[in-house]
Amino acid sequence: MDTRPIGIFDSGMGGVSLLRDARLLLPHENFIFYGDNKNAPYGDRSEEEILSLTSSAADFLLEHGVKALVLACNTATSASINILRQKLAVPVVSIEPAIKPACEKAGEGRVFMLATAATTRLARYRALLARMPDPSRVINIGISGMVARVERGITEAGAFDDILDAYLEPYFGETADAIVLGCTHYVFAGGAIREYFLRRMKGGCVLFDGNRATARQLGRVLERNGLVNPFGSGSVTFTTSGNAPELRPVFEKLLNMPID
Ligand code: DGL
Repeated sequence: MDTRPIGIFDSGMGGVSLLRDARLLLPHENFIFYGDNKNAPYGDRSEEEILSLTSSAADFLLEHGVKALVLACNTATSASINILRQKLAVPVVSIEPAIKPACEKAGEGRVFMLATAATTRLARYRALLARMPDPSRVINIGISGMVARVERGITEAGAFDDILDAYLEPYFGETADAIVLGCTHYVFAGGAIREYFLRRMKGGCVLFDGNRATARQLGRVLERNGLVNPFGSGSVTFTTSGNAPELRPVFEKLLNMPID
């Protein structure tokens, strides 16, 4: 029985979408969430900056006595997971874009993978993509601008149309079998993104994200390392590098948003 908290990290509020799944799956665990909201978004930064910011965030959570660390940020994973795993004394679990289940979905149409510019550019995602049976089926869209809106708690249908138009206009009318939400912020905009695709494209536009798989992996890692807290009442602590009184209501709103 290990009552120490699990650290969940994202550049900002996106990781709250993974925290929701982790809480459901592991209700007895204590979680400490850290959003580096002051420095978000990470997606337009260089690999070196993302690595440095993620390392500082990991140090912050380790100082809070976490027994395991979850990178609830696809962008941070791309830039830092190998180095953090070598460096840290606690297990590190990380999310990455769910293109594998999306590509396994039967169909003749495209898989649209929406992520940050950094995730789509960096070597880790490129290697993952190359392992797919038909990488040319995947359209990779690295988007700037969506994260900042979700950071303000904006998730409604229609709220991202201008941004999505700027990236997706060349594909209007194509068949979208699947849409991968390859940034944890986009999970909160999932309803709006799917509604947009249904208006602009053909096909089933089925959404995929890596949150549940990552939460399950966290459960396995806790078991394997003897770190489970099987009888606790479960808690969530919010910490941020940003303005906590302003950000807390957004955190609470997103944490309590129903999961589709
Ligand atoms: N939520 C993060 C991700 O999953 C990144 C957002 C950002 O800071 O650009 O990629």
